[in-house]
Amino acid sequence: MKISALLFGLLAGTLSALPLGALAQQPIVIKFSHVVAHDTPKGLAAEFFAKKAGEMTKGKVKVEVYANSTLYKDKEEMEALQLGAVQMLAPSLAKFGPLGVKEFELFDLPYVFDNYTELHRVTQGPVGQSLLKKLEPKGVTGLAFWDNGFKSFSANTPIKTPADLKGKKLRIQSSKVLEEQIRALSALPQVMAFSEVYQALQTGVVDGTENPVSNLYTQKMHEVQKYLTMTEHGYLGYAVIVNKKFWEGLPADVRGQLEAAMKESTAYANKIAKEQNEKDLEGVKKSGKTQVYVPSAEEKLAFKKALAPVHAKMESRIGKDLLQAVYKETGFDPNKL
Ligand code: LMR
Repeated sequence: MKISALLFGLLAGTLSALPLGALAQQPIVIKFSHVVAHDTPKGLAAEFFAKKAGEMTKGKVKVEVYANSTLYKDKEEMEALQLGAVQMLAPSLAKFGPLGVKEFELFDLPYVFDNYTELHRVTQGPVGQSLLKKLEPKGVTGLAFWDNGFKSFSANTPIKTPADLKGKKLRIQSSKVLEEQIRALSALPQVMAFSEVYQALQTGVVDGTENPVSNLYTQKMHEVQKYLTMTEHGYLGYAVIVNKKFWEGLPADVRGQLEAAMKESTAYANKIAKEQNEKDLEGVKKSGKTQVYVPSAEEKLAFKKALAPVHAKMESRIGKDLLQAVYKETGFDPNKL
């Protein structure tokens, strides 16, 4: 007998042995899988949502949070969501290309957002809503955008100019825009799952990477990277997504309560993201293992100029109209630096 058939038999036997009342009281379980540490903006927001969802549905829903790739790694988690093996994720916006929704890679464009205020005009406005809608044909419902922060480059050699990254192998997330960004620096992009980055840095499989400080610090990457330069050249944030069939199959009142819990969680996530990154930057500095360098305005401009051509190169991938809509919200113009 196949193991799946055996398990099915066992399960059916157990269920039929339960009194009907007990069955009716079983909570609806939402497995929420993610790849970062618990004490990150996403990790904390996921736990906040779990708590709120329990409270607001009066125990009808139980959210189980699996942090640090304990359930699934980057690529697997998307597949698991579509198959319904897990119900909720919050992948980085750089990871939607493999799902076939490449427009999300607009968030990877270098220097397109100067700060969270400009970013929120996109994520919390009509452009953000139109992006979430693009997920529906993939069997995925987009619920919210959660912040992390702005990425900076790290390596084992000092980084003051774009030329300092020339020829370096740099780990990136699975985004064509990020690939193009690394090539614009004459460096070598290496796509890799988040769970593998620490070891790749430690063993020299890659020379460096880019991260918001909260990801660098909570994965202890600062222990295997000697230099961190606050280039803040791009944004990393998340879309909270659910399996569409599961979501639409929920009782309407429960779904409404979960939407309310998500609204509160989004406000919480986007409030703590900046604080967590600032706190973790202090942690990196205190560790004494990584030298943190803040580039001058002139040095930052050199990075902006080196990375500006990525915008034109990726215009057809993102879509001209969408890109113009984003520029309109943020005021960014790659031709005027
Ligand atoms: C990464 O792979 O670097 C990030 O997407 C991880 C995360 O979820 O923040």
